[in-house]
Amino acid sequence: MCGIVGYVGQEAACPILLEGLSRLEYRGYDSAGVAVCAGAGEGLSVHKAKGRLQVLSELLQGGAAVQGEVGIGHTRWATHGAPSDVNSHPQVSQSRRIAVVHNGIIENYVELRAFLMEKGVPFVSETDTEVVAQLIEYFYAGDLLAAVDQALHRIRGTYALGILCADCPDQLVAVRKDNPLILGWGEGCNFIASDVTAILRHTREVSYMNDGDIAVLSWEGIQCYNHLMQPIAKERVHVDWEVDAAEKGGYPHFMFKEILEQPQALRRCISPRVRDGAVYFEDFCLSPEEIRAVQKIYIVACGSSYHVGMVGKYQLEKLTRVPVEVALASEFRYMEPIVDEHTLVLIISQSGETLDSMAALREARKRGAKILSIVNVVGSSIARESDQVLYTWAGPEIAVATTKGYSTQLVLVLLLAVYLGRTLDRVSEEESRALLEELVRLPDKMEAVLAGRDHIQYLASQSFHHSSIFFLGRNLDYAMGLEGSLKLKEISYIHSEAYASGELKHGTISLIEEGTLVVAVGTYGPLFEKAMSNIIEVKARGANVLALTTESHVDRMAAVASAVIPIPDTHDLLLPSLGIVPLQLFAYYVALMRGCDIDKPRNLAKSVTVE
Ligand code: AGP
Repeated sequence: MCGIVGYVGQEAACPILLEGLSRLEYRGYDSAGVAVCAGAGEGLSVHKAKGRLQVLSELLQGGAAVQGEVGIGHTRWATHGAPSDVNSHPQVSQSRRIAVVHNGIIENYVELRAFLMEKGVPFVSETDTEVVAQLIEYFYAGDLLAAVDQALHRIRGTYALGILCADCPDQLVAVRKDNPLILGWGEGCNFIASDVTAILRHTREVSYMNDGDIAVLSWEGIQCYNHLMQPIAKERVHVDWEVDAAEKGGYPHFMFKEILEQPQALRRCISPRVRDGAVYFEDFCLSPEEIRAVQKIYIVACGSSYHVGMVGKYQLEKLTRVPVEVALASEFRYMEPIVDEHTLVLIISQSGETLDSMAALREARKRGAKILSIVNVVGSSIARESDQVLYTWAGPEIAVATTKGYSTQLVLVLLLAVYLGRTLDRVSEEESRALLEELVRLPDKMEAVLAGRDHIQYLASQSFHHSSIFFLGRNLDYAMGLEGSLKLKEISYIHSEAYASGELKHGTISLIEEGTLVVAVGTYGPLFEKAMSNIIEVKARGANVLALTTESHVDRMAAVASAVIPIPDTHDLLLPSLGIVPLQLFAYYVALMRGCDIDKPRNLAKSVTVE
């Protein structure tokens, strides 16, 4: 996903922009650029390059080669127009007086481009963004804000914009619609950024722009307007997590660091919400009467968050006996979902900015549902549009492949299931107490699993050459296998699929041949015998089986599987929280041995804010 940074102050802008962009690299990109106001009458100094940010930084001598105290920067994840210098942002108007950086998609850019070309405006790039710069200039008659406002009335789509004008070298303009943009309030300087990590070294005072907001920044202050151009005041929020939380801290990769951080992240997620054998959610959006009126729970998410929902379905239905549906957000939007005022919709999103999930939220609200969200990024769009948000408190997650984000979401869904189950009197106090006592022990057990990671590394060293790896499991083990499979394919680029073991005989067993590598997830006790028989089934066809199971089943599993990955015994509903850790490590070590770019996998972005 693209990254935006803007600075207006009394220091050289370019080094600050480049440093800020470096903190957004984790979002995934394929080119980068900056535009700086060189001073009154000096025009805009625009520099951009395809490839890594390092290419641009070396070109600009770390920013020293560019003068000026007002600027915008961008890392581009190509949507319209291939990665190239000319398609990189900032995009400029024909006179080069207007420069724009953009995150999102201009849906009517083709007609706007045609309109402007009829007026004689020449275009140089293949991007939708260039239309914004050209359209602002088309309306520009000396008042930048007025020109921006007129252009916005003609643009359809999603956008976070940073805008510079050579005629107003002491200010920059920011606009937000359906894409996150943050304002940073500094001392003698002010900022815009796609997320807090880009500006945390300079300020902890931020405001989250809402859809339709326009902001005019100068070094003295920030003036905000709503979509009607009426001045508005923005709430300031103090960001209190540490800068180094978004640093690698000596680890080889952010992903490895974040896998190891999981026990601590779980403690942060659990401890404020569990005491005296019960779950507490502050100001829960549903009263006990409203909870009793819920007739269906709909979990909607994408990617790994969707896999949390697949586990959550088992947990919620077991503890509440309320029917639970799980849907991919990108499908939910277009399936005319059966949702009404008696439906509780749970949106799960680490970033809180996934466009498909945001659109699903709005679709569910339109149909009268209560919206509860489980989110990691504080103040993100999904969090702010929900009736209630449960924050995971995982801390900033930099690696594109989520790990602590996933595992803290998983725990929160379980806490929600216990809370609702107790309210509905479907879970006894004793059951709740026993489950929560085991939950509180989970981080320690997870540390034990992490301590055994050398074994996983060894198994990965025997597996990384495979071109296809299958994950099998039933019930909770199947849901866990979905996430294990996604982790593996998204960072190692090995083809992988997760199958419900019982489904094998309906077709996919034809894929099993001599030497096929199968990861059999067999932790769920009630179906252990079935797991064993499925392993025998694939081994009979030549498969090589790595089996994940609990310590109490290791001996029996060792008798049938080629290798066994043990996890400590725990409550059935907590098995995915423990079992996912070896699968995360397996994916990490396989990708490491294949020399992949683990933190920034090809073609992927940390948060997908486009359809
Ligand atoms: C996670 O490893 C993936 N990179 C991706 O599937 C992610 O889970 C998905 O894009 C949803 O993101 P969200 O949780 O921020 O909404």
